[in-house]
Amino acid sequence: MFKKRSSTAEIGKIVVDSTYKTGSEGYDRLRDNILFLNADGDKKVIQVESSVASEGKTTTICNLAVSLGLIGKKVVVVDLDFRRPKVHRQFGITKGEGIAEYILETKSIEDIAKPTKYENVAVVTSGAEIHNSSFVFISEKFKALISALKEKYDYVLLDCPPVLLVSDYIHIAKLSDGVLFIVAHAKTTRGQVNEAVKELKKNGANVLGAVFTMYDSKKSKYYRSSNYNTKASRYYKKENEEATGEADN
Ligand SMILES: Nc1ncnc2c1ncn2[C@@H]1O[C@H](COP(=O)(O)OP(=O)(O)O)[C@@H](O)[C@H]1O
Ligand SMILES: [Mg+2]
Repeated sequence: MFKKRSSTAEIGKIVVDSTYKTGSEGYDRLRDNILFLNADGDKKVIQVESSVASEGKTTTICNLAVSLGLIGKKVVVVDLDFRRPKVHRQFGITKGEGIAEYILETKSIEDIAKPTKYENVAVVTSGAEIHNSSFVFISEKFKALISALKEKYDYVLLDCPPVLLVSDYIHIAKLSDGVLFIVAHAKTTRGQVNEAVKELKKNGANVLGAVFTMYDSKKSKYYRSSNYNTKASRYYKKENEEATGEADN
């Protein structure tokens, strides 16, 4: 699965929207791969992982959520990266009440699953700071939360901390149906990928596939023609022009 690099101003943001503009095709392609993998409807809880920090997990999961929402799938993104929670920022909402309040207080799922400005996409933030993540993940309440979200949404997308830095994946893998593994171009090393994937598999995770982010041809050893992307831009442009009656004859 490939994720195309976005234009500079939009890097690291939610770029998917209903206009299907150039730059978001990679996320739609990822969405279609997920739909294909989930043909039997048994992969609803997807854990997004990577080896180390800043490989594009949060950016990818948020764009994937919007892309799924646009085709009518009900999606919830759950921020489980308690040390560096960023999902709320992507959706322009405050952290407010989230996982911490659900676990420690008597908040209901309705209280913590907040709607976003994107159709069919809700977010569960991390809430107040959580210092002991294992306490959360091994609790019956957390397991009940994931089961209830699974009932309510078509896809439950879990944004997680990196495998080689935090051991939360061990607990989360027991509750997820599959792992989407993010690999950042010219950053993640082969050794890191091998080690992280080995760790995930050792703990029973079902690795569905990998997403290659931040591809930069200038940093690549191998020259890759951008012919496809150029063609894709023309194709999208033509469609838009036709829709507004501006197509060349
Ligand atoms: N596809 C991409 N291309 C280039 N930079 C990206 C891309 N996705 C994310 N980034 C940038 O990389 C940094 C880390 O992204 P983020 O999604 O927060 O990663 P993670 O959740 O793995 O820590 C951010 O500064 C973000 O703007
Ligand atoms: Mg993140």
